[in-house]
Amino acid sequence: MIILGIETTCDETGVGIVKDGREILSNVVSSSLDLHKKYGGIVPEVAAREQVKLIVPVLDESLHSARCGLADIDAIAVAYGPGLIGSLLVGVEVAKFLSVTLDKPLFAVNHLIGHVYANWLTEKKVSEESNKELKFPLVALIVSGGHTDLLSISDHGKYKWLGGTRDDAAGEVFDKVARVLGLGYPGGPAIEEIALHFVQGKLLSTHQSKISNIRLPRPMIREDNFDFSFAGLKTAVVNLVHSSKFMVHGKEEIAYEFQKAIVDVLVSKTLKAAKKYGAKSVVIGGGVAANNFLRLELAAHCAKLRTGLFFPQEGLSVDNGAMIAAAAFYEKNIALPLKLQANPSLHF
Ligand code: KG4
Ligand code: ZN
Repeated sequence: MIILGIETTCDETGVGIVKDGREILSNVVSSSLDLHKKYGGIVPEVAAREQVKLIVPVLDESLHSARCGLADIDAIAVAYGPGLIGSLLVGVEVAKFLSVTLDKPLFAVNHLIGHVYANWLTEKKVSEESNKELKFPLVALIVSGGHTDLLSISDHGKYKWLGGTRDDAAGEVFDKVARVLGLGYPGGPAIEEIALHFVQGKLLSTHQSKISNIRLPRPMIREDNFDFSFAGLKTAVVNLVHSSKFMVHGKEEIAYEFQKAIVDVLVSKTLKAAKKYGAKSVVIGGGVAANNFLRLELAAHCAKLRTGLFFPQEGLSVDNGAMIAAAAFYEKNIALPLKLQANPSLHF
């Protein structure tokens, strides 16, 4: 089954074409990120206007690069929430139009579940791909600019939300800390890069880590739940930067300790969930899943638990249309095209 997936929940305009839920035939993503850089964050109105301009060219390019015509597509899928309302409307209305005019089924996908299914995607033919055995039950950590959520998934379409952030999302805090350190937007990659300077370019896991003289808080790490809170950590960094100690430590050391603090909390709660729900696989998704320190730490701990760890292939952690098509294939959450509504605050 060939599904065309549309993703416009934040600043990206993505259209991906996926065969049988795994094999990417094309995955075109256009981001308006550069337009937002000068504001240090996404400006919703600017994002939605760009998406209106981009959706048709991106759709056209995706079909071209998959060497498909619309007649070859078996179904349309769209991320209908959570996200920015103006942005969501662009994707949802285009998906409804395609479904009605082509008389093809329409699948409605939760954007966050799309991040989970990015782990099923491969650029190769599925027959060439080994070592990709995701086993249920699995625990998913979704960490992006807008979300930090832990899910237990017993089978396709069977989710239990375990907890999430009570204030700022992990990616949002990376972005804010980067801003106070005078680094660019988005903050995650910038923090990761300068944190590496502190350890002379070597990616070290915790047990070999270089000791920093700064100690930032690990909020809620010991609490017996699956919730997170990162606002206090962000404030601690802001206070440190505004104090005279900043000059002593420098940006690299602060970035290193901040990244370690946030990763410690994410890893600790994910492992607690994996143990409690007997997870055979742990998957991560969302923009922050691109962070190599997070991957390294989770890998070390999952190996001890003998739990498989999966993260999306390069370029698939960020928002894209292929992950929406993959989720649609496995969930088959059919929607009535004339009834589907964008839902900015969609939960699980
Ligand atoms: O999933 P995503 O592309 O968009 C949302 O749905 O939010 O995630 C974007 C977020 C940004 O906050 C960005 O700073 C963060 O992902 N990010 C990273 C890294 N790459 C992107 N955070 C930490 N380390 C990275 N390497
Ligand atoms: Zn996302």
